[in-house]
Amino acid sequence: MSILYIKNAAELVTVKGHSSSPAKKEAMSDIGIIENGSVLSEDGKIIAVGTDEEISKQYKDKIEEAKVIDATGRVVTPGLVDPHTHIVYAGTRENEYAMRLRGQTYMEIMNAGGGIHATTRATQQASFDEIYEQSKVRLDKMLLNGITTIEAKSGYGLTLEHELKQLEVAKKLNEDHQMDLISTFMGAHAVPMDYKENPEAFVDIVINEMLPVVAEKNLAVFNDVFCEAGVFTPEQSHRILEAGKKYGLKPKIHADEIEPYGGAETAAEVNAVSAEHLLRASDKGIEMMAENDVIGVLLPGTAFFLMADYAEGRKMIDQGMAVALSTDANPGSSPTLSLQFIMNLGCLNMGMTPEEVITATTINAAHAIDAQDRIGSIEVGKDADFTMFDVKNHLMLSYQYGMNHTHSVVKKGNVVVEDRHIVK
Ligand code: NIG
Ligand code: FE
Repeated sequence: MSILYIKNAAELVTVKGHSSSPAKKEAMSDIGIIENGSVLSEDGKIIAVGTDEEISKQYKDKIEEAKVIDATGRVVTPGLVDPHTHIVYAGTRENEYAMRLRGQTYMEIMNAGGGIHATTRATQQASFDEIYEQSKVRLDKMLLNGITTIEAKSGYGLTLEHELKQLEVAKKLNEDHQMDLISTFMGAHAVPMDYKENPEAFVDIVINEMLPVVAEKNLAVFNDVFCEAGVFTPEQSHRILEAGKKYGLKPKIHADEIEPYGGAETAAEVNAVSAEHLLRASDKGIEMMAENDVIGVLLPGTAFFLMADYAEGRKMIDQGMAVALSTDANPGSSPTLSLQFIMNLGCLNMGMTPEEVITATTINAAHAIDAQDRIGSIEVGKDADFTMFDVKNHLMLSYQYGMNHTHSVVKKGNVVVEDRHIVK
């Protein structure tokens, strides 16, 4: 039996009350702060939440046996949730970053065989162990940045063999690492160069040869498609996502990232759990997503890094879309591992408030990966996943930008980062 007592946080940011459905509109600002708050967990689950006065009186016996973390003067939030990453891969693409700074565009580089194709070649050529080791380094950094659960996509294999390899690495990392990884199959991440003249043939391979095996091996929860001009059309995306549903894989979609292309509309039509990016989503698409309860996973790190216009986060929230935020961590369009920087971009470039960006990286992010019953808020019965920040109130998190404020991280009741170092 292991008991953990986090004591007397200046602000215990619970984000409570949004587990049955994602927070929308004004509810996104309701982050359930308890001043001088404490939380008690036993065997990895939260058993009590309240002011320190209440908790210290009511749970005297338990506290005597507990490991204590003194949070005086600090902020404690639910462990941050990053609901959209491409973290499992080999290699880096800093050369393309330099090419873009000299004027080439992301899509020009990709269409010439670089971009996603470059990382696909590197990932195909790398062994299981090489991909594992390179990805593990990234997971360590994310944990140190206060992230305790991520979604992780395949899509740098693009053949059955290599997609399976990538998903198997994610599975092994989920078992070995303190970070929880929830896998998404993204065989339709790019049309491989050999299929440029006949993309339909590749769509058939994804549907008939990849999806059944991924589902049979139970290697993914979600199925995602890059719906974009020059990649997969809305019609192809529709087919791939509907086919995944037959195997129990829930649809997600990269929508309207570079050009307005009907991705948000497609998300609503197939009842996707979420649509991602939405930099160029149409008004009609936003409206359809809000009506059909599709979560918008916004990735401002990508707009920042591709020097593009940001998604209209403010407008989306005001129109009733549930919004989550994510790093999109990947080697091409967003090579960051910091969700705190993403929160800052959400505030300064998408018109979100400091409270909304917290909701968007905790409970709404948990909803976007269908894990809201277990994580995303500090409530009795949920996993004891917490991030303690070295700041005196939650405003400081997005105010002092470009910094890692994480002091300690608790995963399932175990202290895994202490005083900015990994301890487990
Ligand atoms: O979400 N848009 C497609 N996929 C990723 C980028 C992948 C890459 O460039 O390697 C994204 O931006
Ligand atoms: Fe992405």
